[in-house]
Amino acid sequence: MTIQAKMGHGHTGGVPTVLVINGPNLNLLGTREPEIYGHTTLEDINRELIALGTELAIRVESFQSNSEGALVDRIQQARGNIDLIIINPAAYTHTSIAIRDALSAIEVPVIEVHLSNVYRRESFRHHSTIADVVEARLMGFGAEGYLLALRAAARMIKARAEKREGK
Ligand code: DQA
Repeated sequence: MTIQAKMGHGHTGGVPTVLVINGPNLNLLGTREPEIYGHTTLEDINRELIALGTELAIRVESFQSNSEGALVDRIQQARGNIDLIIINPAAYTHTSIAIRDALSAIEVPVIEVHLSNVYRRESFRHHSTIADVVEARLMGFGAEGYLLALRAAARMIKARAEKREGK
């Protein structure tokens, strides 16, 4: 890998890439407790993210896993290749130091997303291991939250690129 390729789009002139990561049980969206998580499937969300990405000139990659190790592996691979991560670690939000450490290690800005407003739910959902290592958090908007996060991501990436170029 060249140094240029390691440093992300701002240095290569390519299209910015946002990686959207979803944790355990989010593959069941649409049928899983729809009164909490809604009827939209993960496939629907990913399709809408790609469509919005086209509008915003952002490439969207998505990844879902039920396994903590696979999530850590995918986060590690983002270093140098991804401009921003949008992540819903699902239940691992509340337990995973490994995911927090991976996000801290890679030096890629992160937006944390949750479909539900976790503060209106059981107290064990109130703690997030990643809350203080992410740029921003967004919750309670259902599936729309991912689209709001992608719009915010586009602005954050642009602002970073302008800062780097000294504008
Ligand atoms: C969730 C909230 C978590 O508490 C829960 O374990 C999930 C989904 C959300 O998107 O609202 O699986 O992250």
